[in-house]
Amino acid sequence: MEGVERSMRVLGVVASHRRLGNSEILVKEALRGAEAEGAETYLLRLSDFDLDFCDGCMACVFKRTGCHLQDDVSWLLERLLDAGGLVIGAPTYFLAPAATIKTLTDRVMAVLDRLVRLPPRPAATIAVAGLPEWDQLAQPLLNKLALVLGCRITGSMVAHAPGPGQILLREETVTRARELGRSVVTGEILPRPRNCCPICYSSFFIPAGGREVYCPLCRTRGRLLEAGGEVEVVFEPEALTHNRWSREAMEHHFLGWIVPTREMFLKDLPRIREARQPYLAMDDRWLRKPATKHFPGAGPPLRGLARVCTGGSAAMPLSRPQAGARGGSPLPGIGRPWSFLPGPYRSPGPG
Ligand SMILES: Cc1cc2nc3c(=O)[nH]c(=O)nc-3n(C[C@H](O)[C@H](O)[C@H](O)COP(=O)(O)O)c2cc1C
Repeated sequence: MEGVERSMRVLGVVASHRRLGNSEILVKEALRGAEAEGAETYLLRLSDFDLDFCDGCMACVFKRTGCHLQDDVSWLLERLLDAGGLVIGAPTYFLAPAATIKTLTDRVMAVLDRLVRLPPRPAATIAVAGLPEWDQLAQPLLNKLALVLGCRITGSMVAHAPGPGQILLREETVTRARELGRSVVTGEILPRPRNCCPICYSSFFIPAGGREVYCPLCRTRGRLLEAGGEVEVVFEPEALTHNRWSREAMEHHFLGWIVPTREMFLKDLPRIREARQPYLAMDDRWLRKPATKHFPGAGPPLRGLARVCTGGSAAMPLSRPQAGARGGSPLPGIGRPWSFLPGPYRSPGPG
């Protein structure tokens, strides 16, 4: 048993672009803790890799052919599945983890069938935010990635510091990160804050009748208790096994719902095709990216959206028959030149 623990490979995942930023430092500190427990450690920074958005083709589920996108995510997922334990650190942008975390989470669909057959692995998560009043979604949504990856969260924290590296001035936070790293190797579940979901650490609850509540992320069920004039949310011990991310629930969702949606869709397809027609006819409204130094392609550089939308161009033709009538439209916004729309291709000169 000891030999297994000592050879555990712990992978630190950093979701911040900022070199030696707070996420990176705390993940590294957690890896130090893991090393102190005998683990081999590795690091990867998501922004060093190409991550495309899932395009929803569903081939990974319906055809089991893996993902067709030619980026680095398949390689990344292999590393994430290989690791014996994970430490994931992410900055908070607009209340939630930075977008790479969501992009990666969506792509896990391609390995879901393998994941449900893996034993749960330990993971620790570190959400970094500038200030406590602006971090509410960060921790549960970061934990969602660990849970989707089939991990058991041994510890999770939210750290607060706005400037890169500023977290180092908070000694207790750095110490806590190290403890998180240790917990990944020892498997010890660190104490969780009060009144939070025992799975994702969220403190959002949906009323479920009477004193019952449930966590919208995990579907763990809890109960509001009043003691000493204070309300507390208490979860039954089975919440730890009965939740959305358990092996059984994930397998049921994958095999019992996602896979059969294909047949359901194919059966409905003739009716869907017909009902889609009016929306297909609206396809002459798409704005297309023009040819500029930012978007290399045919045609001269555009001088702004106003010109594109009132006159059209080779790169962005106005195929709508009524385009010329736009200037006189009584509809609000329609007659205005579209130059108020921001874009990287906006020219400073006259359009
Ligand atoms: C685009 C952007 C949005 C941000 N939004 C939030 C926010 O909603 N809440 C917050 O507390 N901090 C916010 N921050 C601050 C970062 O979370 C903070 O600087 C953190 O230390 C960054 O971690 P890093 O050094 O690992 O990149 C934001 C920063 C950026 C760049």
